[in-house]
Amino acid sequence: MSGPIVVESVAALRAQIGDWRRAGLKIAMVPTMGALHDGHISLVRIALEKAERCVVSVFVNPTQFAPTEDLDKYPRQLARDLDQLREAGVHLAFTPGVAEMYPAGFATKISVGGPSSGLETDFRPAFFDGVATVVAKLFLQAAPDCAVFGEKDYQQLCVVRQLCRDLDLPVEIVGAPTVRDSHGLAMSSRNAYLGAAELEIARKFNVVLRQTAAELASGADQARAVNAAAEALVSAGFRKVDYVAAREAAALAPWRRDRDGRLLAAAWLGTTRLIDNVEIPAAPPAL
Ligand code: PAF
Repeated sequence: MSGPIVVESVAALRAQIGDWRRAGLKIAMVPTMGALHDGHISLVRIALEKAERCVVSVFVNPTQFAPTEDLDKYPRQLARDLDQLREAGVHLAFTPGVAEMYPAGFATKISVGGPSSGLETDFRPAFFDGVATVVAKLFLQAAPDCAVFGEKDYQQLCVVRQLCRDLDLPVEIVGAPTVRDSHGLAMSSRNAYLGAAELEIARKFNVVLRQTAAELASGADQARAVNAAAEALVSAGFRKVDYVAAREAAALAPWRRDRDGRLLAAAWLGTTRLIDNVEIPAAPPAL
C-alpha cells in the first residue's frame, strides 16, 4: 500500500481533514513523539478500528521537557517512523516543525488540575502543562472524532480525559492497554537508551509492581507495601525511585481498597527514567 499523506503545516492538515469530513468519514488520531515501537502501532490498530481515517502526529514537543531533560537526545527517526506508519495503514502523518506549532510570540499555556497533581508533577512540574497545551492544539488542528492514548502513560491519559471534559473538546479519548515485551517490560521509546545489563534490570520493574498490586489487593498495608516495592526496585539495580504510589484508577485520588486502583511508579536506571503502572484489582465484596 502507498504511504501516508505527510503534511507539515496546519493549513494542509485542515484541508485534508476537511475533504474527509465532507465525505462523511470518521477520523481517529494518535498523537506521538515518534521513535515508534509496537506500543504505538497497537494504538494505530485501535484507531483504525474506530474510524475510517487514521491521523498520526509525530512531534517531539519541547514544552513538555524541562531544560535538564532529554529533549536533545530524544530519538528522532522520521523515515523509519513513516515506514512503520505505511505498513500499519495510517492515512495521514502530521509532522510539524517547532515553528509551526509554536510560532514566534506564542504565549498560551493550558494547565490541568485534578489528576495532574502529584506523581509525575512532583518530579516534572511543567510536564503536564506542555502535554495539555500540545494535545489541545492537536485536537483543535485535526478535530478528530476520537484519539487513542496508551495506558503506559496512565497519568497522562487521565489528564487528557480531564482536559477534554473541562474544555468541552468533542474528542472521545480511548485508553489502550500497555504493550509489553515477553518479560513484561513496557514498550517505551526511552528503552532505546538502555544497555543490555540495564535492560535485564528494567524487566524487573513490572514484576515488582505486579507483585505489590497483588499484595495490596489482598489487604497488605498500603504504606508498607509501596515502601517495600521501592526497596525491591533498588535491590534489583534501579539507581533511584521517584515514587511508587497506589491511586484510585479513574481520577487518581488516594486509593481505597473497595475501589479499582492503579499502582504507578517511576524509577531511574542510570540516566534513564522509566515509568510503569499496573492495575490493582478491586477487593471482592465481603460475603
Ligand atoms: O505520550 C506522548 O508521546 C506525548 O506526551 C504526547 C501525548 C504525544 C504529547 O506530546
